[in-house]
Amino acid sequence: MEISELKRKIIEAKEKTGTVILAHTYQEPDIIDIADITGDSFFLSKKAAEIKAKRVVMCGVRFMAESVKILSPETETILPVPSATCPMAEQILPERVRKFKEENPEAQVVAYINTTAALKAECDVCVTSSSAIKIVDKIDAPSILFIPDQHLGSFVKEKLPHKNIILWDGYCPVHAKLTKEDVLECKKAHPDAVFAVHPESPAEVVALADMVGATSEIINYAKAQKGKVIIGTERGVVDYLAINEENGDRFIQLAPEKLCCEDMKKISLEDVYKSIIGEAGEKIELPEALRKKALVSINRMLELG
Ligand code: 13P
Ligand code: SF4
Repeated sequence: MEISELKRKIIEAKEKTGTVILAHTYQEPDIIDIADITGDSFFLSKKAAEIKAKRVVMCGVRFMAESVKILSPETETILPVPSATCPMAEQILPERVRKFKEENPEAQVVAYINTTAALKAECDVCVTSSSAIKIVDKIDAPSILFIPDQHLGSFVKEKLPHKNIILWDGYCPVHAKLTKEDVLECKKAHPDAVFAVHPESPAEVVALADMVGATSEIINYAKAQKGKVIIGTERGVVDYLAINEENGDRFIQLAPEKLCCEDMKKISLEDVYKSIIGEAGEKIELPEALRKKALVSINRMLELG
């Protein structure tokens, strides 16, 4: 089937079934095109809390679909490709967090939103990359365990030296591959460009950046620049800027061979269509007690962030 015909069928099917499509900016441009709401993790979480739809198809990875279900339990929430998961979301076991809390009853545990619902249920508050510094700064505790991303965690720790932040050793396998050499090589090829990077990147890469921020912050920063911008995050962001901004060729993808999240790219238009008509995808179900516990930490994030 032609792509335009498939898109037409998706739009028709979503209207007929009362389905709302949410998509993270890392999704392929064709998916962004047919989505009702697009944005980064924090924006999508905020929208999920407000949604009144009968059904949501979440084009992203599993923890994003779980967040929708946690915030809108009445909404039927579908993840089009069940194997689309963020590898970082499971890099610490819930039992390990429980043990830490038993051993450190005064401590608070901060979970990056890129975690499973089971992990969120064990934590005190969630953060996204755009809200982490603001939220951690507001936590009054003798120690704070930050899970699972060591790179985002050390970025927050550096910005908040007055906080006692304990890091876990998790990482995003996509952003963590970046090296100082990747940046220097790209800067050499584009000496007039500024450099924006996602805080999931290693400290040696972050140290070379003119701007460090989440997906939406990188997009806003890049739009506000007059000249070239090297983008140090998943290539969906450059695709988005190239399509939506004039002079789209001024956005330079850093290390294109590295910055592609395979899990984020698993969902096709065909999967979206089949999910809307009930022929594909996984309906997200969470035990109610776990959902309620996870909701406490997400709600705290939405209040503090
Ligand atoms: P954002 O919070 O920037 O959307 O990050 C999501 C993500 O998975 C980054 O790798
Ligand atoms: Fe997870 Fe990294 Fe992919 Fe984001 S880019 S979904 S953190 S693996």
